[in-house]
Order: sequence, then structure tokens, then C-alpha cells
Amino acid sequence: MPELPDSQKKISKGYSGNLGYFRRPHYWRRLRFLCFSFVVALSVFGVLVFGKWGSPKKFSPGPLSQNHAHLVDRCETCHTGSGESLSAGFVENIAKFASVSSLEAMDAACMKCHPGTGLHAPQTWNIGLNTASQGGLVHASSCASCHREHAGPHRMALPSSQTCTDCHGSLTKLHNSRTQPTQPPSATAGGQTVDLGEGLRLFLPPAHAPEAVAAFESFAHGHPGFGYENPEARDPSDLKFNHARHFRTDIPQLNNAKLDCASCHQPEANGVFYQPVRFEKHCQECHSLQIQQSLPNLHIPHGNSRTVKLFLAGLDSSIESSVRASGVTEPVAVSLRVKEEREALQRRGLSSINDLEKRVFLQGDPQDLGGERLMRSGRPKFLTECAKCHTVKGGEDGSSPEVQPPLIPTRWLSKGAFNHQPHKQSACTDCHGAALKSKLTSDILLPTQQSCVECHQPLTSTGKEGVKFSCQNCHHFHSAFTPSVLEAAVHTAPPSTPVPIKP
Ligand code: HEC
Ligand code: HEC
Ligand code: HEC
Ligand code: HEC
Ligand code: HEC
Ligand code: HEC
Ligand code: HEC
Ligand code: HEC
Ligand code: HEC
Ligand code: HEC
Repeated sequence: MPELPDSQKKISKGYSGNLGYFRRPHYWRRLRFLCFSFVVALSVFGVLVFGKWGSPKKFSPGPLSQNHAHLVDRCETCHTGSGESLSAGFVENIAKFASVSSLEAMDAACMKCHPGTGLHAPQTWNIGLNTASQGGLVHASSCASCHREHAGPHRMALPSSQTCTDCHGSLTKLHNSRTQPTQPPSATAGGQTVDLGEGLRLFLPPAHAPEAVAAFESFAHGHPGFGYENPEARDPSDLKFNHARHFRTDIPQLNNAKLDCASCHQPEANGVFYQPVRFEKHCQECHSLQIQQSLPNLHIPHGNSRTVKLFLAGLDSSIESSVRASGVTEPVAVSLRVKEEREALQRRGLSSINDLEKRVFLQGDPQDLGGERLMRSGRPKFLTECAKCHTVKGGEDGSSPEVQPPLIPTRWLSKGAFNHQPHKQSACTDCHGAALKSKLTSDILLPTQQSCVECHQPLTSTGKEGVKFSCQNCHHFHSAFTPSVLEAAVHTAPPSTPVPIKP
């Protein structure tokens, strides 16, 4: 049988006469205590020495970005309040580097060098009122919550979509960060055209109720529809134009081709948007403003109503120069021709200046008088009245007629970017199919937000890899206050990654 392990008796024998053993520290424990005291003493000594001669760089959690690297010896430029040397107050400096309140103070420091970067402010509001914002309307959290520093000696990373959906995904956060506008924008029912100058006219959609701000998680899920999708929205152009009518088979061909989108919509040089439609370039060929068929170069000037009235008042002399321009020069022959032309006008019921004005602005020639239905150049219908295409005020009651300017918008989106260039592969009708059937100018022929999601999501419905679906592909975060800056900022997508610059 093997020997039993030490019995209780044996063990207790070993401690006999040594009952206070637990009061006397073991030599290992004593060593541990000594070590501990030494380290503490060393740290206190280190802090004192560091406070006197050390550099705050030692506190840096990582190298500064390339464009801020020169601030490495001036931490206090961003961390406002930290002294040149930490001896000014070690504990305070720890607090300065770490506390949230110092991040708020930091905003002011950032903005000293980046004065243009106001906080996040809704932009269209400012254009609607045509004024600069009275301070930020939206108080997004501090700069540092999106722009991470100390991440390495390259440029700072573009903030991720997450920084946007943190707030845009939560109604509470949205509401808390927003200052209610004191004076909401006053778009008339259906929306209106805002003239930004330099030929830019922006569509301002009917304002949604301020409380209708939606929370959402991504462009594909919950992102609000575009402003013009508001069921109340109408194209505010004060022009009469019927897209569908111009695709019918009885429309004469131009340059041996049927009218298509490109006949009237030519891209601007950079391909982002389209040039405005022009009467002279896109309508006159068929809807001539010729006044007398026998005088093909006698045109009513298109545009300003006053100019037209002056032209009509001086019609005799215009007829005379038109006759001369047609090659007749002999004085007697000229006055004979002018007389003939005047009589022809009178036979059409155009004796007085009043008759002329009424016809030109409001009535045109009666259908059968022009005879010719085809309106190609050289065979125009007589006198297309201004009112065929325009709203004309006055005239009937004896007052002088005035054509209302059509104010066709040239931009339809103001809160996000669009660019036709990368979508050249798609047919116009993929996005503007409504144009083929539209009879009224007031119809809106633009695509819905959901139609963009087809491609702008991580994985398309067919399982293909999608394109550009992060907020920053289509939005700038920082507000731009003046219309021209806004135009530039809104209608160019921000860079997806800052371009790295070689040091
Ligand atoms: C260009 C501005 C800038 C400069 C210069 C700068 N920092 Fe920072 N620092 C920041 C920002 C912004 C943060 C916030 C955290 C982040 O972005 O991840 C930060 C965070 C810190 C933190 C961490 C605080 C925390 O709560 O996590 C420390 C420590 C710090 N900085 C130390 C320094 C030191 C030391 C220097 C000088 C060598 C310095 N910083 C220079 C911008 C700056
Ligand atoms: C002493 C001046 C100065 C201060 C303070 C400063 N910056 Fe900058 N920052 C610059 C300069 C200069 C550039 C380079 C500008 C350029 O390329 O146009 C820059 C560039 C940037 C960029 C563009 C991305 C990049 O890496 O180039 C961002 C974002 C930025 N700073 C954010 C901040 C934030 C946030 C703060 C405050 C924490 C801050 N800056 C404080 C001077 C400063
Ligand atoms: C702290 C909260 C917060 C953060 C973070 C935030 N936003 Fe906003 N944003 C708002 C609020 C609030 C509004 C105003 C909503 C309203 O009143 O209609 C707004 C409005 C907008 C608008 C409409 C602008 C206009 O002209 O009306 C866009 C676009 C937008 N945010 C994009 C972004 C993007 C992109 C980011 C991320 C880079 C972002 N937001 C981050 C709170 C935030
Ligand atoms: C004969 C000239 C003409 C042709 C051809 C034409 N358009 Fe237009 N289009 C106009 C005029 C004039 C306007 C401005 C009046 C208006 O807003 O309807 C306009 C406006 C538009 C608008 C912006 C206004 C809105 O309400 O959405 C779109 C989009 C558009 N056209 C698409 C098309 C497409 C697509 C085609 C080809 C299928 C086409 N157009 C063919 C003359 C034309
Ligand atoms: C290729 C020839 C052609 C061009 C170019 C053309 N039209 Fe027409 N348009 C016609 C014909 C043909 C009709 C049908 C006859 C009529 O009503 O006079 C017509 C009809 C109209 C009508 C009456 C529509 C209706 O509902 O009855 C208006 C308004 C009009 N055009 C405006 C325009 C405008 C504005 C432009 C330039 C943007 C334009 N057209 C360009 C040939 C043309
Ligand atoms: C066939 C249709 C048509 C007829 C007829 C027509 N216009 Fe126009 N008008 C247009 C179109 C399209 C525009 C917008 C594009 C442009 O400015 O050329 C326009 C623009 C205008 C403008 C605004 C110009 C500006 O710079 O904003 C005035 C004013 C005007 N027309 C007056 C007239 C007068 C006066 C008549 C009659 C003598 C007339 N129009 C006849 C189609 C027509
Ligand atoms: C991927 C969808 C898409 C395709 C494809 C597309 N468009 Fe557009 N288009 C839009 C959107 C979105 C707008 C509104 C942008 C804005 O004004 O801010 C627009 C605006 C317009 C406008 C009015 C604004 C302006 O620039 O005057 C015209 C005209 C127009 N498109 C014509 C065309 C024509 C012509 C084609 C074919 C060559 C075409 N589009 C193809 C989406 C598309
Ligand atoms: C048929 C697919 C398709 C549809 C539909 C589509 N896009 Fe795109 N979009 C693209 C592609 C492809 C690119 C280029 C991506 C790239 O450059 O990597 C692009 C690029 C863009 C860009 C970035 C432009 C830039 O300068 O970087 C914007 C903004 C944009 N689309 C907005 C829209 C909007 C708004 C709609 C809806 C009206 C829309 N897209 C509908 C395929 C589509
Ligand atoms: C493919 C392009 C695209 C992407 C991706 C995108 N947006 Fe938009 N967003 C737009 C356009 C275009 C508008 C402008 C609508 C207008 O002006 O009527 C808009 C409008 C908005 C509005 C204003 C809505 C309103 O009715 O006031 C907010 C807020 C917004 N976007 C936030 C975001 C956020 C946050 C993300 C990322 C999760 C995002 N967007 C992603 C194109 C995009
Ligand atoms: C909700 C996130 C967010 C906040 C908060 C934020 N930014 Fe930005 N910032 C962005 C995004 C996204 C961009 C990319 C370009 C753009 O959207 O205009 C950017 C771009 C910049 C740029 C580069 C601009 C350029 O033209 O290259 C600077 C500088 C900048 N921010 C400074 C600041 C300053 C200073 C603050 C604090 C007052 C701040 N940012 C707050 C998201 C933010």
C-alpha cells in the first residue's frame, strides 16, 4: 500500500510555534511593494520632469494629416487652451485633450483657418429668400465628429455616409439639431421659378410642411423623393408647348429628319445640363413670325412687347426696306410695291395699328387665310400670334397687349447633385419617358428618386454591383450661401476621395 500524503497532524506540526506567520510579509510580497513604490515615485518624477522640459507631442494619439502636419509643435492651435508647456497645468491639459467641451472649442479653432465652412445649413431656404442665412439653421455636431485627425500623414479621409445617417436616421437627432425657420420660404402653390441671374432659373418646389422631415437609413431605403415629385408640383413655365403634338406624323421634317429630343435639347459644352430652348433656333423654322408671305425677310421681331409695338408702328418703313432688300431699287417701283403690300394687308383686315396689334399678339390670321398647313421655311402660316405660345395680358379691352415672359426653369434640383454626362449611355426616354405623352407644359417630365435607386445602390436588382450610393457622391455637407456658389457646389458632385498630394 502506498504511503498516505501528509496527514493534518503532520501539517499542523510544521506550524507549531509559528502561529503569527500571516502577520510577517513573505519576502516576495515585500519585493512587490518596493517595486510598486519605485514605479509610482518614478512616474511622479517623470511627470515633473516632463512638465518642465517635455513636449506635448508625447500625448499625440497619432501623426497629423498632411495639410495640418506643420502644426505638430502647436497642438494648441486646435486644442485651444493647452499651454506651450504642460507645466502650465498637467491635469487641465489632460482634460483639454480629452473632454468633449474642448471639441466644441476646437470648432472655433478650425473655423479660424476654414472660415468658409459654416455648419450644415439647408441651402434652398437661402435661395428662396435670396439672402444669406442668418447663421446656421442646422447645428450638426462638432467638426471632429466627422473629420478624424491623427490618422496618418495623408489627407484626412472623406467622412463616411455613417456620419450623415447617424443624424438623418434619427428623427429625434434631426429635430434636436434644427433651428425652426422663423420665416418659412414662400413658394407659391405648385412651385415657382426663382431667377438666379446669369441665365440660371431654379425650380423651387412647393414647400413641404416643416414637420415632414423624414428619417431614413440610405439612398435606397427611405431617402425622400425629389422636390418635384410633390403631387402638387407643376412645371411653372409660362409657355404653351405640347411635347406629344410635335412627335405626330403630320409634323414636317427638318433637315430630312423627324423631330426628336436632340432637335430642341442640345447639351451644354460640359455635358452636365442642356442649353435653354430658343425660339429662333428651335421654333421659328416652323412657326415663323413672318407678316406677309410675299416679303419673306419681313419678320416681326421676337421678344420684348414694346419692340414689337414700335416695329408695328413703323411698319411702312420696314416694308420699304424689305422691298429694297428684295432687289427693287428704282424709287417709283419701290413706292408702287409698298402700296401693293399695304393694300394686301388691308384686304386681310389689317388697316389700323390696333388691328395689327390684335392680330400679332392675340389672334393671328384666321386658319383658312394662311391656307398652307405645312410650316416649313418659305411656306409659313401667316402671323403665328404670340398668344399661341405665350400668356398675353391686356389687348382685348383696348389696353395695350403685353406678353408674359415664359420663365422656363433651367435647374430642377437644388438640394443634391445631378449630371447628365455619366448617364449618356441611357436613352433620354429612360428618364424622361413622360415627354412622349405630355400635352401640357405644366407636366413634369423628370425621373423619380426611386428610378435612380435601380443603379445607385450597393447591389442592383439584377445582382450587379451598383454605383455611387454614398451620401457624399451626391451631396456636399457644407452650405454655400450665395446663389452662384451654390450652383457650383450643388451641381458638381463632391470628390469621392480627397486627391492625395505628395509631400
Ligand atoms: C489640426 C488640428 C489638430 C492638431 C494640430 C492637433 N490635434 Fe489632437 N485632435 C484633433 C482632433 C480633431 C481630435 C479628435 C479626435 C479624432 O479626430 O479622432 C484630436 C484628438 C486628440 C487626442 C485624443 C483625445 C480624445 O478624446 O480621444 C489627443 C490626446 C490629442 N489630440 C493630442 C494632440 C497633440 C499632443 C497634438 C500636438 C502634437 C495635437 N493633438 C494636435 C485635432 C488636432
Ligand atoms: C492653422 C490653420 C488650420 C487649422 C487650425 C485647421 N486647418 Fe484644416 N487645413 C488647413 C490647410 C492649410 C489645409 C489645406 C487646404 C487645402 O488643401 O485647400 C487644411 C485642410 C483641411 C481639410 C481637407 C482635407 C485635407 O486633409 O486636406 C479638412 C477636412 C480640414 N482641414 C479640417 C480641419 C478641422 C476639422 C480642423 C479643426 C480640428 C482644422 N482643419 C484646423 C489649415 C488649418
Ligand atoms: C447633427 C445632425 C445632422 C448631420 C450629422 C447631418 N445632417 Fe443633413 N440635415 C440635418 C437637418 C436637421 C436638416 C434640415 C432638415 C429640414 O429642416 O428639412 C438637414 C438637411 C440636409 C439636406 C437638405 C439640404 C437643403 O437644402 O434643404 C441634405 C442634402 C443633407 N442634410 C445631407 C447631409 C449629408 C450628406 C450629411 C453627412 C455628410 C448630413 N446631412 C449630416 C441634420 C444633419
Ligand atoms: C420642338 C422642340 C422640342 C422637342 C422636339 C422636345 N422638347 Fe423638351 N422641351 C421643349 C420646350 C420648349 C421645353 C420648355 C417648356 C416646358 O417646360 O415644357 C421643354 C422642356 C423639357 C424638359 C424639362 C421640363 C419639364 O417639365 O420636365 C424635359 C425633361 C424635356 N423637355 C425632355 C424632352 C425629351 C426627352 C424629348 C424627346 C423625347 C423632348 N423634350 C423633345 C421643346 C422640345
Ligand atoms: C418641325 C416643325 C415644328 C417645330 C420646330 C415646332 N413646331 Fe410647334 N407645331 C408644328 C405643327 C405642324 C403644329 C400643328 C399645327 C398648329 O397647331 O399650328 C404645331 C403646333 C404647335 C402648338 C399648338 C399645340 C396644340 O396643342 O395645338 C404650339 C403651342 C407650338 N407648336 C409651339 C412650338 C414651340 C414653342 C416650338 C419651339 C420650341 C415649336 N412649336 C417648334 C410644327 C413645329
Ligand atoms: C411658336 C411659339 C412662339 C411664338 C409664336 C412666340 N414666342 Fe416668344 N418665346 C417662345 C419661346 C420658346 C421662348 C423661350 C425661349 C427664348 O427666350 O427664346 C420665348 C420667349 C419670349 C420672351 C422672353 C424672352 C426672354 O429673354 O426671356 C418674350 C418677351 C417673348 N417670347 C415675346 C414674344 C412675342 C412678343 C411674340 C409675338 C410677336 C412671341 N413671343 C411669339 C416661343 C414663341
Ligand atoms: C439618368 C436619368 C436621365 C437621363 C438618361 C437623361 N436625363 Fe435629363 N434630366 C434628368 C434629371 C434628374 C434632371 C433634373 C436635373 C436638374 O435640373 O437639376 C434632368 C433635366 C433635364 C432637362 C431640364 C434641365 C436642363 O438641363 O435644361 C432637360 C432639357 C433634359 N434633362 C433633357 C435630357 C435629354 C435630351 C436626354 C437624352 C439625351 C436626357 N435628359 C437624359 C435625368 C436624366
Ligand atoms: C442605368 C443606371 C443609372 C441610373 C438609372 C442613374 N444613374 Fe447616376 N450614375 C450611373 C453611373 C454608371 C454613374 C457613373 C459612376 C462612376 O463614375 O463610377 C453615375 C453617376 C452619377 C452621379 C455622379 C456624378 C459625378 O460627377 O460623380 C450622380 C450625382 C448621379 N449619377 C445621380 C443620379 C440620379 C439623381 C439619378 C436618378 C435621376 C441617377 N443617377 C440614375 C448610373 C445610373
Ligand atoms: C444618387 C444621388 C444621391 C444619393 C446617393 C443621396 N442623395 Fe440625397 N438627394 C439627392 C438629390 C438629387 C436630392 C435633391 C432633391 C431636390 O432638390 O428636390 C436629394 C435630397 C436630399 C435631402 C433633402 C430632402 C428634402 O426633401 O428636403 C436630404 C436630407 C438628403 N438628400 C440626404 C441624403 C443622405 C443622408 C444620403 C446618404 C444616406 C443621401 N441623401 C444620398 C441625391 C442623392
Ligand atoms: C456631418 C459631417 C461633417 C461635419 C460635422 C463637418 N464636416 Fe467638413 N466635410 C464633410 C464632408 C462630407 C466633406 C466633403 C465635401 C463636402 O461635402 O462639401 C467636408 C469637407 C470639408 C473641408 C474640405 C472642403 C474642400 O473644399 O475640400 C473642410 C476644410 C471642412 N470640411 C472643414 C470642416 C469644419 C471646419 C467643420 C466644423 C465647423 C466641419 N468641416 C464639420 C463633413 C462634415
